Amino acid sequence: MIPRTMERATQFDPSTRSKISQGQSPSILAQGLSHYFGVGELKKQVLFDNNLTVWPGEIIIMTGPSGSGKTTLLTLLGALRSVQEGSLEVLGESLVGAKPRAMEQFRRKVGFIFQAHNLFESLTAIQNVRMALELCYPDLSAQEQQDRAERILVSVGLDNRMHHRPKQLSGGQKQRVAIARGLVHEPKLVLADEPTAALDEHSGRTVVELFQKLARELQTTIVIVTHDNRILDVADRILTLVDGSIRSDALVKEAAIITQMLAKCPVFERVTPRTLTRVADEFTIEHVAAGQQIIRQGDQGDRFYLIRQGRVSVRRSQPEQETTQQEIVQLSQGDFFGEMALLSGQPRNASVWALEPCLLYWLNQERFQTALADTVSMEAEVREAYFDRQ
Ligand code: CMP
Repeated sequence: MIPRTMERATQFDPSTRSKISQGQSPSILAQGLSHYFGVGELKKQVLFDNNLTVWPGEIIIMTGPSGSGKTTLLTLLGALRSVQEGSLEVLGESLVGAKPRAMEQFRRKVGFIFQAHNLFESLTAIQNVRMALELCYPDLSAQEQQDRAERILVSVGLDNRMHHRPKQLSGGQKQRVAIARGLVHEPKLVLADEPTAALDEHSGRTVVELFQKLARELQTTIVIVTHDNRILDVADRILTLVDGSIRSDALVKEAAIITQMLAKCPVFERVTPRTLTRVADEFTIEHVAAGQQIIRQGDQGDRFYLIRQGRVSVRRSQPEQETTQQEIVQLSQGDFFGEMALLSGQPRNASVWALEPCLLYWLNQERFQTALADTVSMEAEVREAYFDRQ
């Protein structure tokens, strides 16, 4: 057995250790979080045993099919509903068993941007925005409230609409008022449900740039539920909820690196970015020391490998001379190996040794086959490469 250390590739966050050692506390810490709707026979579980750690200044995008529990999770994070099972700490406060009054107090620290705009029809845009400030900072002078409300409305491009009432505004303009209202009190946590859905490309960008500014300058944590793939690039992490479980807590940067590596492999060249991103999230990371054997010729194949860092030697021995191995090729960062046995069902046709300390990503056989089955083009490409290597 070859000694190795491993962890999930896209959960490999080198910054986490340093954050803890710097004494930072997470802004969201959920453990074993479950939630149910209905009672008795109609009781239905909607969230299943979720763990989540989010740090100040992080922008999290939450995606997933409708009915997967995204909004339920978002409303739990914002103390809009009570925690039923598991633990949940947000902005340093435990929300388990919180009384309605405490939940209400807590909600003032949060910026909510929800799809239903909930703007007061009788108030102008600027009055709607000022209301949020008055609630949170009753001691602020009227002038200061006015100035802050104006500034934020200007920054979402509503300079000319400040004194209009909601019914005089378009859907996108109303959405921008709601965004301004959610951000004006400079909350430490922003919870946004499809904030850019009603916006055109330009306004959507303006809004996400505002999110980035808040995250960067005030260390605000921003959780966005969205299907808008135009804004995926602002996220530090993307969470995917499937059937009430956070399936992937992919660190976008690491996932992006894997995706880029996959895209450079001729075999994955024509696979859609979406599939690549999904496949990237399924890799496991593995550290292998220099001189270690990764694959033994003649073994059954069980894994497909990508080289994240380091160099390996592919060596083959003739059947009658098993002790003498000849190097066929050296592979390095961005190269892959171990696909042939998985494709052919034959034993490994060569051995692979680490020439230096290597960081490898691997997919098990089942996931590799599923990825292949997902796209005809990918299967054709891998098979082509397979014949090239024969
Ligand atoms: P597999 O047979 O599963 O395990 C050994 C791996 O070595 C093989 O898949 C290929 O990934 C790799 N390999 C074998 N021959 C070559 C070659 N000529 N060029 C590049 N890689 C090779």
